[in-house]
Amino acid sequence: MNEIQKKIISLKKERGALILSHYYQALPVQDISDAVGDSFALAKLAQKAEQDIIILCGVRFMAESAKILNPGKTVYLPFEAAGCPMADMICPDDVLSLRRKYPKAAVVCYVNSSAAVKAVSDICCTSSSAEAIVRSLPNRQIIFVPDRNLGAYVAKKVPEKEIILFEGYCPIHNGVSPEDAVAAKKASPEACLLVHPECRPDVLAHADYIGSTAGILDYARNTDAKEMIIGTEIGVYDILKRELPEKKFLMVKDEFVCPDMKKTELEDVLACLEGKRSPIELPENEMLGAKASLERMVSIG
Ligand code: 13P
Ligand code: SF4
Repeated sequence: MNEIQKKIISLKKERGALILSHYYQALPVQDISDAVGDSFALAKLAQKAEQDIIILCGVRFMAESAKILNPGKTVYLPFEAAGCPMADMICPDDVLSLRRKYPKAAVVCYVNSSAAVKAVSDICCTSSSAEAIVRSLPNRQIIFVPDRNLGAYVAKKVPEKEIILFEGYCPIHNGVSPEDAVAAKKASPEACLLVHPECRPDVLAHADYIGSTAGILDYARNTDAKEMIIGTEIGVYDILKRELPEKKFLMVKDEFVCPDMKKTELEDVLACLEGKRSPIELPENEMLGAKASLERMVSIG
């Protein structure tokens, strides 16, 4: 532990704060956290947190979800401008016009979205809970927003539903091409390819395993395979490389980095603990609408 990490740990105890990090955060940030998880785990941990302060090291929608699920807490996003470009691809009017077009459909909203979009949706999902959530709904028609790739993956898994897709995507995962997947497998023919469902369907077609960040980590930890190609953000690769030095990990492509996830510095976390950052605040109507969608997700997933 370096000096700033020690300072954060001691101040965290003094202030009674809970630090949660996503798997894409830089390792020094993960190392000062009480828990590290995928979006679904982070939402659940935030919901049942007893500490007065929650510091969510990730991007804005994650900290907003923590605030919505546990509104009495003071929630900080350490780097306030860390967003998710996919979340910015959709606004509430887009959802409302799809609702008018498909009045019998339920709206499933990926958590990578604003509170305002969640508020006009029926239920949220994460990559690890999307399939179960779509299956759980009585409606045959499902409007799935904003990720067209995750939506197409779920549509394949749940063929009895008609999934209406929106044209959003993660610029980082969508940037992987099938040629990248083929080249990585050709270079390491013994390796299995583990891919996040935010990647394109023609990339998923080459995968040996498809799952959330937590799913990919679990698979890598439990498989007998000795060589793996990681098809998600480099944070997952960094964790595995450090934790399992006896196995060989490769990235499906170079520079598979989410710049927003990497914005959090230890100094930002410290600034939250020193009261030098503003906590998350959201309009009351968005909080209430989004809370219902998020709570439904947590209760089903
Ligand atoms: P997970 O829910 O799989 O952690 O994914 C979050 C995310 O933003 C992926 O890009
Ligand atoms: Fe958003 Fe993609 Fe970054 Fe995940 S990896 S936070 S979906 S931009």
